Amino acid sequence: MSFLTQSLKDRLNEKRERVNALRPLPESAVEKLRDQLRIEMTYNSNAIEGNSLTLKETFLVINEGLTVKGKPLKDHLEAKDHYQALEYLYDLIGKGKHHTFSEHLIKQLHMLIVQETDKEWAGRYRNSNVVIGGADHTPPDALQVPQHMHDLIKWFSSERKKCHIVELAALTHHKLVFIHPFFDGNGRTSRLLMNLILMQAGFPLSIVLKNDRKKYYRALDQADKENYEPFVRFIAQSVERSLDLYLKTLTPTNIKREKFMKLAYIAQKTPYSAKYLNLLARNGKLEAHKEGRDWVTTKEAVERYMKKRDRKRKTK
Ligand SMILES: Nc1ncnc2c1ncn2[C@@H]1O[C@H](COP(=O)(O)OP(=O)(O)O)[C@@H](O)[C@H]1O
Ligand SMILES: [Mg+2]
Repeated sequence: MSFLTQSLKDRLNEKRERVNALRPLPESAVEKLRDQLRIEMTYNSNAIEGNSLTLKETFLVINEGLTVKGKPLKDHLEAKDHYQALEYLYDLIGKGKHHTFSEHLIKQLHMLIVQETDKEWAGRYRNSNVVIGGADHTPPDALQVPQHMHDLIKWFSSERKKCHIVELAALTHHKLVFIHPFFDGNGRTSRLLMNLILMQAGFPLSIVLKNDRKKYYRALDQADKENYEPFVRFIAQSVERSLDLYLKTLTPTNIKREKFMKLAYIAQKTPYSAKYLNLLARNGKLEAHKEGRDWVTTKEAVERYMKKRDRKRKTK
């Protein structure tokens, strides 16, 4: 079972090695980047689910303890809960030992995520049926949830050595939201769990961007129909974005850094049109990630793509 091309897997592994080779990373720089990603993740993960706080407001609520006038109390509490859940995640990873993937762990994450907004159901499976707004898929009957969760844990342990960690993390995310074991908070819990899997394998925190919500929902919908590739690739792109961010920020200044720029600009320096570069980026053939709504890449990445393509042609 493989949903990512070998070259994309190699590239993700190679970037992970490069990030880890930067260790010991300058502590203050790492801390800053970590904090930034934690706030970004909190903002995006909550905003996807309808939380109205902006990125800046999320920052103020968490770092300054401020309340934002005119915004619901629930939105403030969700931001704090999510941030705490992330701290818990970092804590687990910091302890170094491989945490057992279990129903207990999933419930624990859920408990943290809704601890202030849904005390009654925090850490507990639902006892009646639910629908997912905006999705065709109807999650299984509440009575079947425990069995499905049991199967998910079994599936995970049988697959963990067989597929690439990014595939494993993405598929686990999909399976959990497919079951939708909780009344609410399934999306946030799944994104946290996915990150636990990724981070234990040495990947940085990876964020599903609010701007990509439509694409994310579309890819989940395809995965419901057993077409997993778009979703796995979508997640791989968010992993690569974080890897690039680490490399960009933490590579010492005496080592040459590649400059990420918008496709329209890069296109002027390469034989390709911006439109074609966009296609390559979306298909995962070119090292690129999104900043805001725009794809960015580097001149060197396009050159590497061209070299690889030439090699392939020669071997044909
Ligand atoms: N077609 C789909 N199949 C499975 N899961 C989906 C689909 N569309 C959306 N989802 C998931 O459902 C989540 C919303 O469920 P919900 O329990 O409200 O979570 P949260 O409260 O964290 O938003 C989305 O974040 C997404 O992960
Ligand atoms: Mg919700």
